[in-house]
Amino acid sequence: MSEGAIVRVSTVDELMVLLANGEDVWDMPDRSGDPVDILDHDRQCAELLRQRYPHDEELQVAGLVHDIGHQLFPGDDAGHGRHGADAIRGLLGARVARLVELHVVAKRYLAVTDSAHTLSPSSARTLIAQGGPMSAAEIAEFRTDPDFDAAIALRHADDAGKVVGLTVAPLDEWRPVIERVAAQTASASTP
Ligand SMILES: [Fe+2]
Repeated sequence: MSEGAIVRVSTVDELMVLLANGEDVWDMPDRSGDPVDILDHDRQCAELLRQRYPHDEELQVAGLVHDIGHQLFPGDDAGHGRHGADAIRGLLGARVARLVELHVVAKRYLAVTDSAHTLSPSSARTLIAQGGPMSAAEIAEFRTDPDFDAAIALRHADDAGKVVGLTVAPLDEWRPVIERVAAQTASASTP
């Protein structure tokens, strides 16, 4: 997909196909990145968020879809958060889109503020291209974001959800959750 191409995921069915296609697709096309494929990573990330935040389905779904930018624009690691957010905003709403975009921003925040926070070798490598560690001014501004806590939670789940061979819920189990979030978005945009 070329830079500047407009990609929108308009239906839950399209999104389910895209997520399913994450099987045997990798964050780095040359397999130099994370040790699990995107489908496994997405499901592990969403599962962690479901366990920790059972009432926040928007956050869970954001965890499930946060890396689809890797599939839509392979190789554009620096832009994958924004591309993913743009693709699902119309279907899943502004908050889910924002959380998807913030998963890269939160990584830049934690790189400075949490010395115990460990990135996978792939994530550490791509940090610089994504803007590098935050400045003090960026940190202060990010902390005022209404979705700061949720964004940090997603990032922790993102970094933890890379366990080879871990069994988690099948993708189909997420369909009704996605449908609820999409239905809320549709009703909110109906005049
Ligand atoms: Fe991720």
